[in-house]
Amino acid sequence: MLLTHRPSGRPRHRTKSAHSPLILAVRWFLTFRWHLLALFLSDLGRSMIVRKYDAFTTDNGYEAAGRGGNVLTRFVDRIVRRRDTHVALRQRLDIVSSELVEVALAARERGPVRLISGPVGLGRDLRQAWSRLESLGTHPASWLEVVGIDLDHSGTVLDEASRLAAADHVPLETFRVDLLDPEGVAGIAGRSVNIFNSIGLGVWLDARGVESLLESVCSVLKPGGVLMIDHWRRHGGSRYVGALQMPARYVTDTEFEASLETAGFTVEQKRSTPNDIVVVYRARLGVNRSESGSTVTT
Ligand SMILES: C[S@@+](CC[C@H](N)C(=O)[O-])C[C@H]1O[C@@H](n2cnc3c(N)ncnc32)[C@H](O)[C@@H]1O
Repeated sequence: MLLTHRPSGRPRHRTKSAHSPLILAVRWFLTFRWHLLALFLSDLGRSMIVRKYDAFTTDNGYEAAGRGGNVLTRFVDRIVRRRDTHVALRQRLDIVSSELVEVALAARERGPVRLISGPVGLGRDLRQAWSRLESLGTHPASWLEVVGIDLDHSGTVLDEASRLAAADHVPLETFRVDLLDPEGVAGIAGRSVNIFNSIGLGVWLDARGVESLLESVCSVLKPGGVLMIDHWRRHGGSRYVGALQMPARYVTDTEFEASLETAGFTVEQKRSTPNDIVVVYRARLGVNRSESGSTVTT
């Protein structure tokens, strides 16, 4: 496979207007949001402030307990990790990895399976799914191809994803691609993909961005292929996202489902996290979707 496009986009979890950690701290102080200053004491909190919810912060948030620090910083870190957003992250991870196992096993009945994860981040969901497939004795290496794509704005994400995958014996191939550029995405795989796993990007996109993301997915997914995608509902932790100057956009389930349907998908299953914050959708691309995008779902 060839990478035909060099990405130039900016990751949407960051905005040009976002202030430096110092300015943020001063603003929080001056607006009496002093409790937010405690985030600086937590390992995960500092990562949220400095990196926003990038691949590293998100992966850090998957850990229920942090490491290192003194009694005070560990205490604050534990509180941050128990916030509803981070509980939802861990609950989402369980749903996504078990769904990936299920859809991969179903797709396997029709032959070898190609799965793209984009944005792959550090690929924890993929590694977890792979390990479950191995423990089921299905020998995924003999029938499952896994590809990870990411904008990797910092140039460190895909290297780390590859390192972690190699350590877990997952044969992950990676490409640096902007998921909002359908032509760039099409360049890596044509329409040869059975499963597209897209977790952790949609909430940072405006309506046009979601359209482009879904167009990119359609550019590589086989008709009848499956998209796994997450949708975040507004929740208590949303106000922290605002305080951190991250451009989240919350829509209703109905609106999110409408954008899937407009792009040619039929929702087959939706699973909410136990705390009702994230929904993971399993959606199938209409088998009669033409290259131009019009669809007749059968
Ligand atoms: C919140 S992380 C999610 C990563 C992973 N799916 C997970 O759940 O752990 C968001 C990821 O999206 C990537 N990203 C942001 N904008 C992107 C774009 N336009 N195209 C591709 N990847 C993008 C970032 O580099 C980051 O790795």
